[in-house]
Amino acid sequence: MLDLIDRLTRAHGPSGREDDVRRLIAAELGSHVEGTRTDALGNLIAWKGGDGPRVMLAAHMDEIGFMVTHVDDKGFLRYAVVGGMDHVGLPGQRVAFPEGRVGVIGAEPVDEPKDLKHEKLFIDPGTDAGIAVGDVAVFHRPLEQAGHRLIGKALDDRLGCAVLVEVARRLASTPNRVFFVFTVQEEVGLTATGALTATYGLQPAWGVAVDVTDTGDTPKARPPMEVALGKGPAVKVMDQSLICHPRVRRALEEAAVAAEVPFQREICEGGTDAGAIAVTREGVPAGVVSLPTRYLHGPSEMADLRDIEGAVALLLAFLGKPLPES
Ligand code: CO
Ligand code: ZN
Repeated sequence: MLDLIDRLTRAHGPSGREDDVRRLIAAELGSHVEGTRTDALGNLIAWKGGDGPRVMLAAHMDEIGFMVTHVDDKGFLRYAVVGGMDHVGLPGQRVAFPEGRVGVIGAEPVDEPKDLKHEKLFIDPGTDAGIAVGDVAVFHRPLEQAGHRLIGKALDDRLGCAVLVEVARRLASTPNRVFFVFTVQEEVGLTATGALTATYGLQPAWGVAVDVTDTGDTPKARPPMEVALGKGPAVKVMDQSLICHPRVRRALEEAAVAAEVPFQREICEGGTDAGAIAVTREGVPAGVVSLPTRYLHGPSEMADLRDIEGAVALLLAFLGKPLPES
């Protein structure tokens, strides 16, 4: 899966500009699915399986980024963040615009480090690169491997996309009707826009988002959290967008046991596509398989390959048996 993750994290895909990621995923899925289509907002929907209950798996294609709001007369760029991002640690980072144009984040001098805010930062594209207001840059970092650990940008949520692609490839037969939904615009706004509209169209009986989650295994991590790298995928209990449906959570945990995959229970801040899936139409029972990841929404997110492989095995076991309609 390492090569697949490498290709996926290389793609340039800030929220609302997911085209590169979508093209790549469609090619990776190839003939492993019965069909694919792209909906009006840009979600990529693939399907395969029997005529049993409709199960929707969702992973978001978009990543956080920097949208140019102003170009000054020397060519320095001011930006608005696309998605949630801390300004701490940004000076000196490299960012990439489409077509490989790279820039460096610089900072105005400040008296105290606490005075540093996004408003004091700018992107220096080096030359007049023809960048205009509305263009969007993402972190520019290659994927690195350190033992079982992966370090890179946009692991949120290309890891989830890689898990869905891998499940689609390995799922030989299933009695359920499975929809693999690669969503747009999870990182922006109050609602996971793509997941909401895709769910409305598909009317699934079950919804499962696959996304990254924070960990509590770094020095003095706050708030205290059980989840750690390398201890298996996490089955979410609750976050700020959703209390996961007990039926879905139970089925996911049973699948982990059946597949002999160690798993962790997760309660965390933030939200995922599942929050939107759950409140579509008259409601869809939804849960989340989470991939533990440190340093989220930064240029060097860190995850563990064993957790990612575990998530694939868990989902294959979950989909392999007939799921009840309700
Ligand atoms: Co995110
Ligand atoms: Zn995410």
